[in-house]
Amino acid sequence: MAQPQLTTPVVAVIAAKGGVGKTTVAANLCTLLAENGRKVLAIDLDPQNALRFHLVVDRQTAEIGLAQALMEHRPWSHVMQPGRSGVVVLPFGLVDDEDQIGLERFLAEQPHWLGQTIADFQLPPDTIVVLDTPPGPSVYLQQALRVSNLNIVTLLPDAGSFATLSITERMIDKYCRTRSDFIDTTYLVNQVDTGKRLSRDVLQTLRADLESQLLGVVHSDQAVSEALASAAPIRSYAPFSQAAQDFSMCAAQLLRRLAPYETPRSGTPRPQ
Ligand SMILES: Nc1ncnc2c1ncn2[C@@H]1O[C@H](COP(=O)(O)OP(=O)(O)O)[C@@H](O)[C@H]1O
Ligand SMILES: [Mg+2]
Repeated sequence: MAQPQLTTPVVAVIAAKGGVGKTTVAANLCTLLAENGRKVLAIDLDPQNALRFHLVVDRQTAEIGLAQALMEHRPWSHVMQPGRSGVVVLPFGLVDDEDQIGLERFLAEQPHWLGQTIADFQLPPDTIVVLDTPPGPSVYLQQALRVSNLNIVTLLPDAGSFATLSITERMIDKYCRTRSDFIDTTYLVNQVDTGKRLSRDVLQTLRADLESQLLGVVHSDQAVSEALASAAPIRSYAPFSQAAQDFSMCAAQLLRRLAPYETPRSGTPRPQ
């Protein structure tokens, strides 16, 4: 199976560490892109199956996902779920340890499975595919990096995130840099607390190091976890919160970065 050429941009949210906010970032960007008039397919490539908590309207049905489509040959239309703000969600699905190992073996043997699957969906060209991934190297991250056009590396402003950056960058070099359809890797610094000296200092260093690769900064804001608990996107739960504004800026920046590489859509205004 060769890697198919995709016509829709694929954005992978990645990090070497867990708990840095990948799923939160992926979910909030998805709803904001959809509110910007884009069609969005959110794919959860993390066996934790947590993207559903942010996005899926009926969380119960999201216990079935891509794992069941693969293992039980369920049609894709049965496992795709309607999500908030019109996002279509492909959950990972709930699996036990043995199924997960079997699934990972299959994905290791079929390196282009994700690319082929997205191609088979025949998505409208103005769709953006957003991938949520588990932390660190895995077959899921390999699959994601083989198809992503743009990566969003999520970082915390702390020493731990710095220390693990090279792990992620090595994987990006291996799977993305050589592809002609690869745009760039961007960085999102999450949970910034400007009241803390370390947070401020690390952010300053990151700004200097990353320069134009910095997609944006999201402050630590309790509205983020409150929105999750209320199962609402932050922009509707707390529209004037710092995090809602931060995520809006990141989404606008993301659209700007994708725009030069997209096929112009007739009659549809470009987001500013
Ligand atoms: N900007 C933020 N402000 C406050 N809490 C946040 C922020 N971003 C993420 N969180 C919280 O951090 C925790 C981990 O986030 P999550 O998205 O699950 O990380 P990951 O997917 O990288 O494991 C969650 O409880 C989430 O609500
Ligand atoms: Mg996650």
